[in-house]
Amino acid sequence: MNNAETSEAPQVKIHVRRNGSYFVEGPAVLLDSEGNRFEVEEKFWLCRCGHSENKPFCDGTHKKVGFQSDVRVADHEGQKNG
Ligand code: FES
Repeated sequence: MNNAETSEAPQVKIHVRRNGSYFVEGPAVLLDSEGNRFEVEEKFWLCRCGHSENKPFCDGTHKKVGFQSDVRVADHEGQKNG
């Protein structure tokens, strides 16, 4: 049995924020395209709009550019993801 199968496994939550970033909550590991690890706190925000000057992190630019996206689970029912 691995950690993911135990009830004591830490749970990472990723919130898709309305008109904004992905808010990551929990003990997550964030890697770059070469597998190098970013230093992150237990809570951090990832850019979803593509305009941050500090990618992959959100720097608040989504507000300046008027980014609009309100993704809901109901919009994806019946779709396979991944
Ligand atoms: S989502 Fe915040 S800068 Fe892109």
